[in-house]
Amino acid sequence: MIEVATTLDALRARVAGWHREGLRVGLVPTMGNLHAGHHSLVQLARAHADRVVASVFVNPTQFGPDEDYAQYPRTPEADVAGLEAAGCDLAWMPSLDAMYPLGLARAVRVQVPGITDVLDGAHRPGHFDGVCTVVARLFNQVQPDVAAFGRKDYQQLAVIRHMVRDLAFPVELLPAPIVREADGLARSSRNQYLGTDERALAPEIHRGLLAMRDALRGGMPWREVEALGAARLAEAGFAVDYAVVRTPLLAEPDDDEGRERVALVAARLGRTRLIDNLEFGLDA
Ligand code: PAF
Repeated sequence: MIEVATTLDALRARVAGWHREGLRVGLVPTMGNLHAGHHSLVQLARAHADRVVASVFVNPTQFGPDEDYAQYPRTPEADVAGLEAAGCDLAWMPSLDAMYPLGLARAVRVQVPGITDVLDGAHRPGHFDGVCTVVARLFNQVQPDVAAFGRKDYQQLAVIRHMVRDLAFPVELLPAPIVREADGLARSSRNQYLGTDERALAPEIHRGLLAMRDALRGGMPWREVEALGAARLAEAGFAVDYAVVRTPLLAEPDDDEGRERVALVAARLGRTRLIDNLEFGLDA
C-alpha cells in the first residue's frame, strides 16, 4: 500500500528509516495531474532505488503572473491511485505552508544565471528560478539518492543539472525518455486542453522536429534549419515561440566541435502551449 505524507515530520521519519536500513531512495518530483509519462518516471526511479517517493505539489513560484496557477488541474485522489499502481511507496503531498514555511514573500529563492534566460526562460521570466527553488527544497526534504526528470522538459533538466553540480547536492539525476502517443505527440498534462482539431494538428510538432534533424544531417546550416522549422509550424497553424537547434548545453552550435544536437520547439495551438524536443547526433 502506498503511504501519503503531508507533514515534513512524517516524510522524514519514513525516509530516515529506509536510509537506516541501507535502502536507496528515489524521488519523482511532480505537480500532480499525473499521466503515463509520470508513471514511467516512477518505474525508472524504481529501477535505480529500493524505495520511491513521488512529490505532488503545484508550485506557485514557477508560475508567471499571467499563467494558470489557480486553474492548474488538481487531482490528488487519482494521482495517489496512479502512483500506487506504478509502484510508488510514498506520496509526499505538502501544503503550501509545509513547502514555504516562512511564506512566499520571505522564501529563500534559488537563482540560476544564464541558462534560465533563454528559450522557455525568455518566454517565462522567473520560471526556472521557481523550479530550482522548489526542487532544492524537495531534495532537502526527501534526501533522495536519485531523482527522475523527464527529457521532455529539456531545459528544466539542464537547469537542474547546473544547480545540482553548483550546490553539490548528493543526488544522482535520472533523465527519462519522452513518452509519445502513437502519432508522435509527446505526453503532457496540457494535451487535455486541446480541441479535436488542435489535437489532430499537434503531432506536427514532432514531425517538424524530425524534419529539422534530417535537414541538419543533410548539411543545411543551423540557422536555416531553425527558419524552416518555424515556418513549417506557422504554416500548419501554430503560433511559434521558438524552433531552434542547440548543443546539449543549450549553446548556439556555431563554435561547437561536438556532433550532438538538440532541436527544441515551443508552439501554441489556441491557448495551449506545447513544448517538445529531439536529441540526435549529426552523423547517425
Ligand atoms: O516538471 C515539473 O512538473 C515541475 O517543474 C517540477 C520539477 C515538479 C517542479 O515543480
